[in-house]
Amino acid sequence: MIASITAEEIAALVTPERVHRRVYTDPAIFDLEMTRIFGRCWVFLAHESQIARPGDFFRTRLGREEVIVTRDAEGAIHAVVNRCAHRGAEVCSNHTGNTASFVCPYHAWQYRLDGTLINLPHRASLPASFDMKDPRFSLARVPRIASYRGFIFGCMAAETPSLEAFLGPMTETLDNIVDRSPTGAIEQAGGIFRQEYRGNWKLHHENANDIMHAGFVHESSVAAARGDRRDYATPAYDLHQTHTQLLSNGFALKDWLATGLWGTEGGHTYMGGFYKSGVLSPERSDPTWLAYRAKLVASHGEEKTKAIIGLDRFNNLIYPNISVNAQYQQVRVVQPLAPDRTRIVAMCFRLKDAPDEMYQRAVRFLTNLNSPASMIFCDDMEIFERCQRGFASEERDWIDLSRGMGKEKQLAAGTLEADGTSELAMRAQYAAWKRYMVEA
Ligand code: FES
Ligand SMILES: [Fe+2]
Repeated sequence: MIASITAEEIAALVTPERVHRRVYTDPAIFDLEMTRIFGRCWVFLAHESQIARPGDFFRTRLGREEVIVTRDAEGAIHAVVNRCAHRGAEVCSNHTGNTASFVCPYHAWQYRLDGTLINLPHRASLPASFDMKDPRFSLARVPRIASYRGFIFGCMAAETPSLEAFLGPMTETLDNIVDRSPTGAIEQAGGIFRQEYRGNWKLHHENANDIMHAGFVHESSVAAARGDRRDYATPAYDLHQTHTQLLSNGFALKDWLATGLWGTEGGHTYMGGFYKSGVLSPERSDPTWLAYRAKLVASHGEEKTKAIIGLDRFNNLIYPNISVNAQYQQVRVVQPLAPDRTRIVAMCFRLKDAPDEMYQRAVRFLTNLNSPASMIFCDDMEIFERCQRGFASEERDWIDLSRGMGKEKQLAAGTLEADGTSELAMRAQYAAWKRYMVEA
């Protein structure tokens, strides 16, 4: 199926200012994306705190593969494919847990946490030539795994740049979420939201750094917030955060012009400059914040503390599968399931030794933005599905990405910068998409 699309055909689907609808709908393109993008990039799998103890595991996806990230008895981390080497059944159905081994539910082949086959019933009935040590009878392993500041990534390709080189400027984003902890340690805590929408995975990425949609798609919650006079201060540490978040989607054009967008060669994109005042700003004076800030200063000193809490980057999209919001300790993971089906996995983190209210705030933010009852993300998912249905139309083939084109500023190290009204982020993502996709 890969051979059915030539490099020239793929290249013709993306021009500097538009993309063809086929990139969202064609199953052959989707297959190729799984091989050439998700099979080559470093893909976020799990955070080390999710497999903190020996025997812990966390189930996720790497492209088209179901993957289990494990920590073995010696503390080493592995990532194995959740497919029994016998007749192909998934060996693990829990999202997370602790175990000494995985036993397949079909015929009870038993695997160590590094994927090695260690036992199976009725061995005498197997041919004499059957060798349990043959790697063909182990769970397949993700060939390369690496951690950056506790964030575990996997890569299916044997020879690509290191994780750090791949992350490029986005190392700063991961540094920032960790450095916000007074002890330099964070842990994933609380529940995890898993939601699916009937649309292509790239729709999520485009939307994450598309500032212009906010006032229209989220109009109803902006209107509700404008008319709402309730006190949001209790019971969690909120201090009108919820209210302010909803209102911020209704910023006027002059406010959006004052925000920024950045796109990098790797397809990683982010925005910033939203919250210069109020409870979402980097400097605040409520008692919880001051207690937290004092702990940061004790660990890092005043200068570094200012830099850490002053890094104002929002929706940091590490291409192709993770979006990070360091200010509120959020991570959103994007899992493509089919050309028209995507799963979003959302979680938040606790900053160890920060006041508990900071964690409560992260939970509140996660719920506001990512839960099935979110007044914000539900709107976006509705739009993703409307776009996907629209792409089925044969009356128009092209999707326009030209807003703000030619006005970008070239910064050092291949990064482009534009104001918040630009579609720069989408163009940066598609430039990377094209580069990965045409290379055989
Ligand atoms: S399919 Fe797993 S033991 Fe048979
Ligand atoms: Fe949105």
